[in-house]
Amino acid sequence: MGQINEFSIPFRAAFPSVMKGVCGQGMENPLGDNSLLAMAGKVCFITEKNPPASFESIIDRLFPIPKEKLYYRLPVSEKAKSLAETEKLCSFLYEHGFSRNSIIAACGGGAVTDAAGFAASVYMRGIRWISVPTTFLGQIDAGIGGKTAVNLASSKNIIGSFWQPSALVLEADFLASLPKETLRSGAGELVKYALLMQPAESRTIQDALPGVLSGDLAKLMLCVSVCANMKMRLISKDERDQYALREKLNLGHTAGHAFEAMSNGRLPHGEAVAHGLKYAIILSKELEKINEMSADAMLGLVAMLDLANLDFLGNDEASFSSFLKLVSHDKKNIKAENRFILPKDFGIAEPMENIPESILRIAYDRMLGF
Ligand SMILES: NC(=O)c1ccc[n+]([C@@H]2O[C@H](COP(=O)([O-])OP(=O)(O)OC[C@H]3O[C@@H](n4cnc5c(N)ncnc54)[C@H](O)[C@@H]3O)[C@@H](O)[C@H]2O)c1
Repeated sequence: MGQINEFSIPFRAAFPSVMKGVCGQGMENPLGDNSLLAMAGKVCFITEKNPPASFESIIDRLFPIPKEKLYYRLPVSEKAKSLAETEKLCSFLYEHGFSRNSIIAACGGGAVTDAAGFAASVYMRGIRWISVPTTFLGQIDAGIGGKTAVNLASSKNIIGSFWQPSALVLEADFLASLPKETLRSGAGELVKYALLMQPAESRTIQDALPGVLSGDLAKLMLCVSVCANMKMRLISKDERDQYALREKLNLGHTAGHAFEAMSNGRLPHGEAVAHGLKYAIILSKELEKINEMSADAMLGLVAMLDLANLDFLGNDEASFSSFLKLVSHDKKNIKAENRFILPKDFGIAEPMENIPESILRIAYDRMLGF
C-alpha cells in the first residue's frame, strides 16, 4: 500500500467537513472506499494537455473509483489561468451534467490546481474539489491552502477565491518525471520556506537543497512533508490572509511577480520568487532591518539555485518604472504605495509599507549588479 502519512485540518470557509490530507509514495486508494469520490455523483479529473505518460496509471492507483474516468485537459502552465479557460471548463462540466454533488480532481502543477480550484469555486456557486499537486512547487505550496486564481492579462492571480479542497493528495511518484528546470523553480519556493522557518527546521531544508535540485526523491519527500506541515499550520490560523500570518508566505513575491510579468512568460514562477527573495534581502539590508551575517547566509542560499541572470531587465529609467508600477499595483497593498515582506532573520519576516522610491531603486540596481 506504499507509505502514507495523514494529517487533517478543520476549515471554516468552504465545506464544513474536515479536510483530509495524505502524503506518501506508492499510495493506493489513500482516501479509502468511502471517499468523496466514491460518494460523488460525477467526477472530472483535470490535468494539462499531454501530461507525462506515468500520470494516468498513478491516478488510477490513487483513485480506483470511478473505473472509467472522465478527463479534461487544460492548456499548459499559465495559459490555463484565464477566465476564458474557466468558462470552457465550466461549459464542459455543464454539458456533462455536473451538479453540486459532483467533484473535480485537479491533478497537475500549480497552474492546474489554481485554475481548476477556481473553476470549482464558481461552478454552480461552488462544488467540491480534490487537490492533487504533481510538481514539487505544487506539493510544498501551490496545491495547499485553498487560494485559487486566474490571471488578468499579465497580472497574476487577480481573479480568485479562497476555496479549500476537500482533500489533498501528495504522491511522491509524480515527482519522478519532473525536469531539472521545474525542480529548480520549486526550489525557489523551498528557499522561501528556509528563510521563514526557525533555524533548526530551516537547517533540515538547507541540507536537503542540493538533493532537491538533483531530483533525489527522498529529499523531495522530506521537504514536501516539512513544508506542507508548515503551510497547513499557518493557514489553519489565518486561512484568509487577514492576520499577517499567511502573508509571510508572500516573502519574495512582490518583486518576484514583477520580474515574472516583465519576463513575458520566460521566467517560471518559482525562479521569479527566488529573484524576488534576493531583492527582498537586499532591500532589508538597505533599510538596516537585517544584519550582514544573516543577509549573506540568505543570499548564499539563493545563490545555490544557480539562477540565470535577469538580462531582460535594464538599469534605465523605463525598466525601473515598469518594476515600480508592478510592485505598486501588488494586490497586497492596502492603502499603501507599496508593501514588501522583509526578512529580518531566519524565522522572522515582517511587512513594511511605503518604502521610498529612492531606496527601491538602490536595491534594484544592487540586485542587478549595476
Ligand atoms: N495558490 C497558491 O497558494 C499558489 C502558491 C504558489 C504558486 N502558485 C501558482 O502556481 C503556479 C506555478 O506552479 P508550478 O511551478 O507547479 O508550475 P506549472 O503548473 O506551470 O507547471 C510547471 C511545468 O511542469 C509540468 N509538470 C507538472 N507536473 C509534472 C510532472 N509530474 N512531471 C513532469 N512535468 C510536470 C507542467 O506541464 C508545466 O510545464 C503559478 O501560476 C503560481 O502563481 C499558487
